[in-house]
Amino acid sequence: MELMELLRTRRTYRRFLQDPVPDEVLSEMLEAARIASSGANRQPLKYLVVRDPEKVEKVFAETKWAGYLPPDEGTPKEGERPVLFIAVLADEEIASASVAAFDAGLAVSNMTLAAWSHGVGSCIIGACNRPKLSEYFGLPPKLVILDLVAFGYPSHTSVCEEMTDSVKYYLDADRNYHVPKRSLAEIVRYF
Ligand SMILES: Cc1cc2nc3c(=O)[nH]c(=O)nc-3n(C[C@H](O)[C@H](O)[C@H](O)COP(=O)(O)O)c2cc1C
Repeated sequence: MELMELLRTRRTYRRFLQDPVPDEVLSEMLEAARIASSGANRQPLKYLVVRDPEKVEKVFAETKWAGYLPPDEGTPKEGERPVLFIAVLADEEIASASVAAFDAGLAVSNMTLAAWSHGVGSCIIGACNRPKLSEYFGLPPKLVILDLVAFGYPSHTSVCEEMTDSVKYYLDADRNYHVPKRSLAEIVRYF
C-alpha cells in the first residue's frame, strides 16, 4: 500500500474477526517497534505479548473502549474482541515513564502501521486498570505500563472525514466508524 494510503486507513478498529495474528506478522510488528527512534537512544520500552485466549480475555476485562459511545455500541462483544494485546512498558531503570511515553508514541505508531500493512487493525488503549494489570502480569516495580494495544483483523471499516462541529467519532447505520479530523487550515500556521 502506498504510504499516505496506509496512514489514512490505519485507523482505530474496535471489532475484530477471531482469526489469530500470524507469527510472522507479530514478529514484524515487534521489529517495527524495536527500531523506532528513542530519546538519546536509551530504548526504555519493553513489550509484553498476550495471545493466549484466556489471558486475552482477562486483560480485556481491565480495558475501556470508545468513551464517546454507549458501551453496547463501542465496547466489543464476545466474538468480536481483539485476539492479541501488547502491553507497552517503561523500564524506569532506563528512563522515567513520562520520558518513555514519547518513545512509546513512536513505537506504537510503527507497530500499528506494520500490523496494518498486513491488514491487522489495532486500538491503542490508554484507559486500562494499570494496578490490576501490573499485578496480573507479575511486573516488578521498575516496569510501568504505559498503554496497551489491542490487535485483530477488523470486521468494520473506519474513515476519516473533515470535522465540522465535533471531534467525536460516531457509528453509521452499518456500525462503521467515522472519525472527524480538524482541517489543515485550523491546525497549521506558516510563520
Ligand atoms: C494515547 C491514546 C489512548 C487511547 N486510548 C483509548 C482507549 O482507552 N479506548 C479506546 O477505545 N480508544 C482509545 N484510543 C483511540 C482513540 O479514541 C482514537 O485514536 C481516536 O478516536 C481517533 O481515531 P483514529 O485512531 O481512527 O484516528 C486511544 C488513542 C490514543 C492515541
